[in-house]
Amino acid sequence: MEVIIAKDYEQLSRTGALLIAGQVVRKPHSVLGLATGSTPLGTYRQLVAYYREGLADFSRTQVFNLDEYRGVGGESPCSYQRYMAENLFDHINVSPGNTHIPNGLASDVAAECQRYEQLIKQAGGIDLQLLGLGDNGHIGFNEPNTHFPAATHLVELAPATIAANSRFFTAAAAVPRQAISMGIQTIFQARQIVLLASGASKAKAVKAMLEGPITPAAPASVLQLHSQLTVILDPAAAGLLAGGA
Ligand code: GLP
Repeated sequence: MEVIIAKDYEQLSRTGALLIAGQVVRKPHSVLGLATGSTPLGTYRQLVAYYREGLADFSRTQVFNLDEYRGVGGESPCSYQRYMAENLFDHINVSPGNTHIPNGLASDVAAECQRYEQLIKQAGGIDLQLLGLGDNGHIGFNEPNTHFPAATHLVELAPATIAANSRFFTAAAAVPRQAISMGIQTIFQARQIVLLASGASKAKAVKAMLEGPITPAAPASVLQLHSQLTVILDPAAAGLLAGGA
């Protein structure tokens, strides 16, 4: 495991983007796992800049997103599909057929989860998985739990997550109560994992992830077992670590 404490959000974003662009340069047909939320926005802006400068070519890259809200279609401004289009896909040369996200409108959720797992397997597995971190320690939408959910599955969102994500909706009442998310094993099977966390609201979850016991009560703590994990923090997110930032 490598923990990088960047001097600020800009440097955190640049470091994340360098790792992703490096992966794509090394292996143009890479399979990337990508995340949503506020944290990766700077990383995506930097990737778009690398693409425009001719430094990264995504024409052969496949992308699998971690999760999508249940009951939300791709056309909804709150969907993660729309987020990815607006913040990354529409600005780089990834082929639309190579981008994948769980279908939040699927009538048969179990079949959709199986289809998603199968697609990842057919693509050869994920080379590099980018993660954010929920204030409550979730990764993807794997909420604090009594067990580690293995494969892609339907999630009941925790009240803390609904509250945290209400800023993307008109009101907390408008936030979907469920989502389809890659499971812990799906994430863990990625050959390389890059996790970004920024801001003081993440400090407790960061400490639990890196220094606490490995427990489904702190889902990200399982990443301690991953041999190719890079955690990129800003000083505020690293603020509670032993030794500080
Ligand atoms: C959502 C996403 C997660 C993300 C988390 C943190 O719940 N499902 O993948 O990591 O938000 O978001 P933010 O980066 O906005 O704090």
